Amino acid sequence: MSAGTGTFSIGGKTIELAVREGTMGPSVVDIAPLYKNAGMFTYDPGFTSTASCESKITYIDGEQGVLLYRGYPIEQLAEHGDFLETCYLLLYGELPTASQKADFDYRVTRHTMVHEQMTRFFQGFRRDAHPMAILVASVGALSAFYHDSTDISDPQQRMIASMRMIAKVPTLAAMAYKYSIGQPFMYPRNDLDYTSNFLHMCFAVPCEEYKPNPVLARAMDRIFILHADHEQNASTSTVRLAGSSGANPFACIAAGVACLWGPAHGGANEAALKMLEEIGTPERIPQFIARAKDKNDPFRLMGFGHRVYKNYDPRAKIMQRTTHEVLNELGIKDDPLLEVAMELERIALSDEYFIEKKLYPNIDFYSGITLKAMGFPTSMFTVLFALARTVGWIAQWKEMIEDPSQKIGRPRQLYTGSPRRDYVPIAQRS
Ligand code: SDX
Repeated sequence: MSAGTGTFSIGGKTIELAVREGTMGPSVVDIAPLYKNAGMFTYDPGFTSTASCESKITYIDGEQGVLLYRGYPIEQLAEHGDFLETCYLLLYGELPTASQKADFDYRVTRHTMVHEQMTRFFQGFRRDAHPMAILVASVGALSAFYHDSTDISDPQQRMIASMRMIAKVPTLAAMAYKYSIGQPFMYPRNDLDYTSNFLHMCFAVPCEEYKPNPVLARAMDRIFILHADHEQNASTSTVRLAGSSGANPFACIAAGVACLWGPAHGGANEAALKMLEEIGTPERIPQFIARAKDKNDPFRLMGFGHRVYKNYDPRAKIMQRTTHEVLNELGIKDDPLLEVAMELERIALSDEYFIEKKLYPNIDFYSGITLKAMGFPTSMFTVLFALARTVGWIAQWKEMIEDPSQKIGRPRQLYTGSPRRDYVPIAQRS
């Protein structure tokens, strides 16, 4: 929606730039004509003040600690819905009716098996390969096994590829885990719901009956809801940029998995738990707080801070409650890691440095404690994040592909390298 114009004057030139406002949140200045009319680029390497696209999917108010999926508060979706309902909402924009939900669940359930030859694909990895390395590779490899749904110009193929990824990434994630511990792969079961099936594929063994704990399954499902989408974060922006070239959907999602792996992003849940283990006891917290504040020390409190949230990450609050639920269900009293985490949070939130820089716990701060208690090794934490975020990446990719004004993303630069110079034969170089 237009909100008038702004004028930009520099170097004796004045140009008018359109201002657009959205449903909520900051308005934007359309700088597309800037280079043509003023011969200049904008400069914002970390995209701290740059909107890369228009989207209707997720809204974040970092100052208020608000997160909405298609307008619905994350707290209500996590409380009342399930993950596949959130998948439907993110993909199609509305909560499903009962019949739409039943049909969606049925379709996802019947895409959970992977091509049998993918089991041989896994055999090429060392057993100690990081599960994220296996997931990046195996999601990309889906385009080799499901070549019949890679034509992005065909809405039917786009829908099939989307359903295949939502359904098969949990199977690949479970296979990556089983492979890393030397246990046989467990086939998906159509009689289980999405998240119970995932727990079954991870923790069942062929030699005995496995019944997923419904409290843990509900907690896992809620964790998936919390991680499903998050506006234009680094991995989602990676998926959009990869998709803007027309790359097939499996390759685009594999690019998102790769980006998420970084410790500043989705890898923070694994890093946060390792940090809590390194701290070990509440008595050692002050020295780590001091390190986090020391400009000469690269150490950061993992699971703290956020580019957008300058208030408490609403997901972290729900995550903290889920942590207590899971520990209670498992009869884990006085978990030392939880004790350190809660004391670390208490100290950090009363420390001037963290208050002034508006550093609060983010979703990765508590998730590791919960996932470890559920039996997952730390190396699987980011895999679980990627599993949940797959639907968000797909929804954002779908929105971009279906945007008639979509074009390949191709940023420019500020060049500070050498001016033009002639070649020097090697004999004349000193
Ligand atoms: C996710 O974008 C998303 O939406 C991501 C995500 C999603 O759902 O997709 O929410 C998931 O990635 C959550 C974030 C997980 N990462 C971590 O927990 C890693 C630790 N956090 C930091 O690396 C950092 O806070 C970031 C990367 C999350 C945000 O970095 P920014 O916005 O670029 O902030 P910054 O690095 O410019 O920091 C601002 C200041 C700096 O001090 P000054 O240079 O201004 O003096 O705050 C300091 C930083 O040194 N700071 C920290 C800190 N985070 C920032 N100091 C100590 N510990 C920290 N964790």
